[in-house]
Amino acid sequence: MTGVTLNQAIKRYGETQVIHGVDLQVDDGEFCVFVGPSGCGKSTLLRMIAGLEETSEGKINIGARDVTHMDPSERGVAMVFQTYALYPHMTVKENMGFGLKMNGHPKADIDAKVKAASDVLKLDDYLHRKPAALSGGQRQRVAIGRAIVRGPEVFLFDEPLSNLDAELRVEMRVEIARLHKEIGATMIYVTHDQVEAMTLADKIVVLRAGHIEQVGAPLELYRNPDNRFVAGFIGSPAMNFLDGVVTEGGIDVPGLGRTIAVEAALPAQGTPVTLGVRPEHLEVQMGQGALQAELSEALGGVSYLHLDTPTGERLIVEERGDDRAAAGDTVDVTFEARRAMVFDRESGSRIR
Ligand SMILES: Nc1ncnc2c1ncn2[C@@H]1O[C@H](COP(=O)(O)OP(=O)(O)OP(=O)(O)O)[C@@H](O)[C@H]1O
Ligand SMILES: [Mg+2]
Repeated sequence: MTGVTLNQAIKRYGETQVIHGVDLQVDDGEFCVFVGPSGCGKSTLLRMIAGLEETSEGKINIGARDVTHMDPSERGVAMVFQTYALYPHMTVKENMGFGLKMNGHPKADIDAKVKAASDVLKLDDYLHRKPAALSGGQRQRVAIGRAIVRGPEVFLFDEPLSNLDAELRVEMRVEIARLHKEIGATMIYVTHDQVEAMTLADKIVVLRAGHIEQVGAPLELYRNPDNRFVAGFIGSPAMNFLDGVVTEGGIDVPGLGRTIAVEAALPAQGTPVTLGVRPEHLEVQMGQGALQAELSEALGGVSYLHLDTPTGERLIVEERGDDRAAAGDTVDVTFEARRAMVFDRESGSRIR
């Protein structure tokens, strides 16, 4: 087992730089998740670690070895992709053992490794089937099995579950968590899915336009984001943001029609800021205020109430319990001062 270290890693395609000097430490045995908007460089960074993309500048280490310019096959990594690309004419067993067979491993050794992997992935009953006779989840399990039999030090996953339907995703997510616990290898996992990121990760890396915005444990990023981007990206529904200006005694927030007291150490009066509050920290006050309820999405245990402010901003409030507001209501919202986050409106940096 080994960790992965990136040192000022840069990727250029011709003139275009897409990864801008990334420094990152993924510890031995850690489950690290890359998240960020489409095109921010998640796959590129993963492929640089795999050796499928040449690193333009900087250094990549796996354990103590500098692998920056090594061939993918020498790096001790195995990658699982969104499309599982199994060989249709081979059985599950043959698919899983194929890489080892090509490398000239003895048959008994291959059989033992395939057996061990199929135990972990509960594929024993399917070893003699062809991929066409498997469900999507089973196929993806075979693709993961193919990675396991190679005994890599580092597993790299690029959105492995995004071709599966919602129910299977949940099942496979639990399975991947179990797999990580069982084999304890270092894993780096790219996803668009908030829930996958929050539940699987020891460490989340939030990327934006080829830069790291913040690195931290899931709840650390959720509770203590460094900037407006991370605050808005982690959490679903997203954090609410309202424009405000620092004033005597707090922040004047036109969307709420009042001055809000906060715990942050505020800059000079007149500074434009953004106030952030999560949907679950807002409390609806019925029969007062000037916020128009436009829509209430009732999911059962919770409802998401969408409110329009007089300034044209939008708030989402999480409601629980029996008394919930309805579309057409006019309401106000309150929240505890400690729940309000403040960001510099220009730079987006958190003001603490
Ligand atoms: N071969 C290439 N030539 C030029 N630019 C490229 C090439 N491959 C990727 N890019 C650019 O690099 C950036 C990062 O792409 P990448 O595929 O890593 O994004 P991503 O975060 O994985 O996005 P998604 O979530 O959509 O998969 C994008 O702006 C993309 O257009
Ligand atoms: Mg991608």
